[in-house]
Parts: sequence; C-alpha cells; structure tokens
Amino acid sequence: SDRYCVFGHPVGHSKSPRIHTVFAEQTGESLRYEAIEAPLDDFAGAWRAFVAEGGRGANVTVPFKEQAYRLADVLSPRAQRAGAVNTLMVGKHERVYGDTTDGVGLVRDLQAHAAPLEGARILVLGAGGAVRGILEPLLAANPAALMIANRTAAKAERLASDFADLGETTGGGFDAVVGTFDLVINGTSASLGGELPPLPDELFADGALAYDMMYGAEPTVFLRWAAKRGARTVDGLGMLVEQAAESFFLWRNKRPDTAAVREMLRRSR
Ligand code: ATR
Repeated sequence: SDRYCVFGHPVGHSKSPRIHTVFAEQTGESLRYEAIEAPLDDFAGAWRAFVAEGGRGANVTVPFKEQAYRLADVLSPRAQRAGAVNTLMVGKHERVYGDTTDGVGLVRDLQAHAAPLEGARILVLGAGGAVRGILEPLLAANPAALMIANRTAAKAERLASDFADLGETTGGGFDAVVGTFDLVINGTSASLGGELPPLPDELFADGALAYDMMYGAEPTVFLRWAAKRGARTVDGLGMLVEQAAESFFLWRNKRPDTAAVREMLRRSR
C-alpha cells in the first residue's frame, strides 16, 4: 500500500497518524501513515529517503515548513503566498508538489462553528509563519476589516502590507488594537508558555467568537480570558482535522468525514 507520513521534530505526539488512518478506513483507501522525526539539519535527506522507500506524500510540521517550501519543485499559489508548505506530494515525472492546507483548514473549521466571517471585523494575534499561512483564505471570506496585532509591531505592519491587495488589512502592536471584533484568532505561540498577549478588556462585539489555533487537554489562557469576557470559544483541534482532510484529498481525491474524527479526538483527550 502507498506510504505517507508526517515529518516533524519532535513528532512523537502528533495526532496525524491516527487521523489519517481513520480517514483511510472511512474512505476505503489502502495506505500506511506514520510519524517520522527528521534530523534538524537534513530534512531534504529524510524526504528523499522516504520517497525511495515508497513514500507518495507527507505532511510537514514544526520546524520544517519553510524547508519543505524550498524543497518543492512546484508550489501551489497559496503555498507561494504563505511562504510555507505543510503538504508534499510526489507528482508526475516524480516532481515534488508543495501545498499548504493550514489556512483552508482553519476557515473550514470556522465555518463548521458558524463563526462570523463575511462582513465581520477580524483581529488576528501574531505575525509569524502560522499567521502568514491563514491570511489569504481569511481575506477570501470577505471580512469588513482584518487587523493583525503582534508583540513586534513592525512584523504585523509588514504582513498587513503584504496582503493588502486581498482586502482591508491593517497591522500594528497590541497597543494599537482599538474597537471591538466579531472574531479574534490567536495565532501567537504565547499559549505554549501559558502567556496572554496584552489586550483591551472591551475586545469582543456581541456574539463574538474567540479562536485559538493551539489546542490541548485544557483550554488555553487566551480562551479562558475570552470566555470570561463573554466570547464563544473554540480551540485548534478542528483546524488540525480539517487541514489533514485537505491534505488527504490532495493525495487521494476523497473527502473524509471530519466531524466524526473531531468527535473521536475530543472524546479521547
Ligand atoms: P509560528 O510558526 O508559530 O508562527 P513564529 O514564526 O516563531 O512561529 O511566530 C511566533 C509568533 O508568536 C510571533 O508573532 C511572536 O511575536 P513576535 O513576532 O513579537 O516574536 C508571537 N509570540 C511568541 N511568544 C509570545 C508571547 N509570550 N507574547 C506575545 N506574542 C508572542
């Protein structure tokens, strides 16, 4: 059967093997999916070795998304724009095709949660690689305005100007956040250290949704903070499942049932 994997470092706790194995069962596809810890200094070598052993495609997670971007022979327009690749595929004439499904995965999960998108005021926290990957699909949903706020203001300003051709986009530091928002997405890695970006108390409009791209057994500090201020809260587990489904579709041309897998993961954590 065809082989797929997720490359990361570390990668031991990745849920991707479980997710893709269930997808394969659901759709009747015959494939194997494993987790491979690539060496930090030789991602390309690990990919080549995997292909030589029958690998047909891979997901790529931290810290290899930029290296995967450089390795691909052909990039999808959205991967080009994101500057990162989370999905590799061996294509025609053994050419390596690179795509990113993170952004579309986020938007699908937002839609599954009936999040305000079209005509909404959206605030995105953070201006790193993870945020660069979600801006194009968010702007494609036609929000009224999208603001990017980051600890290092210059990075948010730069990102906003890079995407300004796609919609009303502004950037600045956390101190530049004014007004209320219908959707606030935390794309910083602050949650990992249990930290909270400094945000105004009156951040959420009526019916607002707070989304953290991180997930864990417990709600993140950001989600707990948001819940106290009346926002509806959603963590990034669904985004993980949706981006996986998009990758699976690229590889196998079949759409798995993501809701069933999301429920399975929620029950087991
Ligand atoms: P990723 O791939 O997760 O986006 P990254 O490119 O290193 O990783 O970006 C991390 C993001 O989290 C950045 O926006 C970073 O802010 P800076 O650009 O100012 O470094 C943000 N971040 C990390 N730790 C943070 C903290 N404790 N408080 C606020 N923002 C934080």
